[in-house]
Amino acid sequence: MPNTIVVGLQWGDEGKAKILDELVQEAKQINNKRIWVVRFQGGPNAGHTMYIPMPDGKLIRFVAHAAPSGLTSNSEIGIGPNVAFDPERFIKEVEEARSVFGYSAGIHISERTGILFDYHRKLDAWQESLRTGDSKIGTTGSGIGPFYMDNANRATRITFAEYVSDNFHDILSKVLEQKSYELVAARISSLVTGKYIDELIAVHDPIRKELRKCACELEYRLREALEKGENIILEGAQGSMLDIDMGTNPDQTSSHLLATDPLGGLGLPRKAFRIYGVEKLYPTRVGEGVMPTLAEDDFGIETQRNAGEAGATTGRKRRVGYPDWVIVKYAAMINDIDGIYLTRADNVQDKNIKVCTAYDANGKRTEKVPSKLETVNPIYSNKIYRWHLWDGPSDLSKPEEVDKALHDKRAAYVKGGCESLPKDLKEYIVDHERYIKNPIIGMSIGPARGEIVKL
Ligand code: IMO
Ligand code: MG
Repeated sequence: MPNTIVVGLQWGDEGKAKILDELVQEAKQINNKRIWVVRFQGGPNAGHTMYIPMPDGKLIRFVAHAAPSGLTSNSEIGIGPNVAFDPERFIKEVEEARSVFGYSAGIHISERTGILFDYHRKLDAWQESLRTGDSKIGTTGSGIGPFYMDNANRATRITFAEYVSDNFHDILSKVLEQKSYELVAARISSLVTGKYIDELIAVHDPIRKELRKCACELEYRLREALEKGENIILEGAQGSMLDIDMGTNPDQTSSHLLATDPLGGLGLPRKAFRIYGVEKLYPTRVGEGVMPTLAEDDFGIETQRNAGEAGATTGRKRRVGYPDWVIVKYAAMINDIDGIYLTRADNVQDKNIKVCTAYDANGKRTEKVPSKLETVNPIYSNKIYRWHLWDGPSDLSKPEEVDKALHDKRAAYVKGGCESLPKDLKEYIVDHERYIKNPIIGMSIGPARGEIVKL
């Protein structure tokens, strides 16, 4: 059953796009039917990075923020109703994919989807400037919070159907009028003037014209695809611990991002899908917020540097932590996952790795995640894992530059499968499965398409 939902099990940047691209390749082997890649929440705060080998052997880096990552595999792409849809960014990404990969498949955008505008970004910056000390969130500045406020506010939400309609100019003026108090308070009252509206219209009119044909009742279209046996892959963004309800308040994003959240809105049944969680071997966080296993030692510093752990959206350094299985087990539960893909085991070879298997919460040992993570201290198991995969460069931060040197070594593990992995890594996988009670079904051994050891 190739229908899959892919979600992140930590704080984002787990490698979801790479796994998703792999699942598309798998679906291509299984049948000849159309493949759909559908984003279901979040917006351009996501940074989904893929490394695709081109026919000349060169590795191309492609980052999708506003568009589904199916752009690199010529899949049908869809935008669900809970997405913060940024048409400016979306159209640029589609154009880039057309020129780099010859992208030519269908684009399907739900008429119900809300539109993210420039004023959301400006309000995001303003709101963040008002937050001091602990209340700072460290958002990506993409306008996500203000967008979802408008979504919940209903009357200031502009849907995709309205965006591509002939009434768009009027609707936009009315919405900005309603938002005028907020914009004046934010000292960006210039945004309520006719000049600003004209500027917005000048930017959006050509995009609206181009995207008009993509508007659809996505829930019916996907249901038809399902009935025809086509392959549907739902692409989550961010990570479970950033979920608006289940994440670490207030350092979270503004959307519902768990795996079962999109099914209703997309008109799809749980039973037709397998849910895969993506876990990076070590968690990272960009932006504010607590991470119980934060590694401020050489492990954290070197991994940040050698794995190139910097935000694909903002360029900020990501903080690195030791593996936290308590979080992963929790995320596996709340997402109802069927299996895990583990990423970036290659980035921490030759390092002593300890694993958090419980928390000390006010003097009590627990394996549960409390709603306030600030109060816990990690308890690490006694075992230290250390594996060696290959001799070669330790700085893997620029995958294009080390691809030649490591390509064959990585390919050997892909071919050799689980048995060929170093002893400690195999033990890590077994212990992980025992603790999480969910199988690791694949482990990436490199960033490029195809570099996955199937377990
Ligand atoms: P992908 O899809 C990592 C974080 C921000 C900030 C918080 C709120 O690449 O995994 P927002 O702009 O959403 O209001 O910011 O959420 N954040 C992410 N961190 N990966 C992401 O997406 C993220 N999207 C948002 O850094 O802490
Ligand atoms: Mg990312």
